[in-house]
Amino acid sequence: MKVSFVKHGLPASGTVVVGVLAKSTLTKAAQALDRKTGGAIRRAIRASRFEGNKGQSLSLLAPAGTKLDRILLVGFGKPDEITETEMENLGGRIYAETQREKSGSVVVAVDAVGGASLKAWEMAARMGYGARLRSYRFDKYRTKEKASDKPNLRTIAFQSDKFDIARKAYAHFDRIADGVFFTRDLVSEPANILYPEVLAKKAKELEKLGVKVEILGEAQMKRLGMGSLLGVGQGSIRESKLVVMQYNGKGAAGRGEAPIAFLGKGVTFDTGGISIKPAGGMEDMKWDMGGAGVVVGLMMALAGRKAKVNVVGIIGCVENMPGGNAQRPGDIVTSMSGQTIEVINTDAEGRLVLADALWYCKERFKPKFMINLATLTGAIIVSLGAQYAGLFSNDDTLSERLTSSGLKVGEKLWRMPMGAEYDKELNTDGADMKNIGGRGGGSIIAAQFLQRFVDKTPWAHLDIAGVTWSKGDAPTVPKGGTAFGVRLLEQFVTDFYEK
Ligand code: BES
Ligand code: MN
Ligand code: ZN
Repeated sequence: MKVSFVKHGLPASGTVVVGVLAKSTLTKAAQALDRKTGGAIRRAIRASRFEGNKGQSLSLLAPAGTKLDRILLVGFGKPDEITETEMENLGGRIYAETQREKSGSVVVAVDAVGGASLKAWEMAARMGYGARLRSYRFDKYRTKEKASDKPNLRTIAFQSDKFDIARKAYAHFDRIADGVFFTRDLVSEPANILYPEVLAKKAKELEKLGVKVEILGEAQMKRLGMGSLLGVGQGSIRESKLVVMQYNGKGAAGRGEAPIAFLGKGVTFDTGGISIKPAGGMEDMKWDMGGAGVVVGLMMALAGRKAKVNVVGIIGCVENMPGGNAQRPGDIVTSMSGQTIEVINTDAEGRLVLADALWYCKERFKPKFMINLATLTGAIIVSLGAQYAGLFSNDDTLSERLTSSGLKVGEKLWRMPMGAEYDKELNTDGADMKNIGGRGGGSIIAAQFLQRFVDKTPWAHLDIAGVTWSKGDAPTVPKGGTAFGVRLLEQFVTDFYEK
């Protein structure tokens, strides 16, 4: 689908979308169409419950006086409801309502709204972004879907004044959407297709955007002493990989400067290992690499839009399988940090992967801070459901910044407590720590475990188990892999680290 920005003008055919404000107040474009159709728009509004509220829409098919297929009225709501997020949501809803339009061509007329904080071109650019985000579809394995059932929207054109500025603003959003789509693709692939080596190769594709990508195999990780990560992957026939991505958008000026770092859990499938999971719903564990997927998509977005930031992305890619060589409950492994870990439950594997990735990152790059993302615990789903991701951190500023950037893009974080009382649950007699604690506070104990591998580095952990996959459509997030985290962290970089 092509998203374009053009000047105002009534098209001869296809579908036209116009806005109506609350209390059925027609925008300029709606008024013009009402005249052209002999008052059909006002009559249709009177005959329906549509009042121009946000989220509402009303369709007029084959309107007399025109050769149009359809006029779609969409509610803009009140002027103060015209925000960036609402305009993206509106763009997403317009896409959803018109994606199967027979003509394949939709024009959206965007007029300036008195009293709104956004200009018409800003509204148009945001609507275009929302439409693109909603247009994601993972259908490569659907070989029998009828063409008539597939979306066939070829072009969606947004009309506004200063449309050339809208086009420029959109180009920026388009690069972020590229990252979001890449992440959604990675998360959607099944685990027989996407295993550690494949995930690493996908990350390698970022080289064409100027990202330096190194892939460490098991031999190299063994030399580095990454016994914690390697133990997780040892039951799998697939080789574990650690991928290190570096993007320096500051050029020579940023050479000496410490980078910022993002890390992701890349468990391409989590059976639980010898502590095997029950069968029901185990297929969901193909997206246990969601954290890694976000880091790759984020790097793509930042490099794609040439962000002025020095950033490192690290993903630990492993498959957690039972097998003759699998790690056993009770095994003791030595992490790269030198700390020993008694693996009581092989299903608490994400933390074992991140332990070595975090330590390696800190030692090699001495970053300003580290932020990791992981589908780490089922317990965070019990706590927060699918509405918020859990935020755990040793740094208040970092936490506040992440939370505020998340609010801007509709990816909400809720900070959870941490503390020594939780941490001590990890103590064990036979080693420096065990990998699980008692029954309660499972997500917090997992965070405490990670914290033992960050030393004094400012750090935040986002537990995204509840938000990585969605069962229903949202305006800009179709059901399936959400890529939650890409937009948040891209915004976070924009807001605080790009000066
Ligand atoms: N990948 C899972 C967490 C998960 C569960 C993600 C459901 C998404 C949906 C993780 O590796 C895991 O198995 N965690 C265990 C930890 C427990 C053994 C302490 C869990 O949450 O049950
Ligand atoms: Mn697990
Ligand atoms: Zn897992």
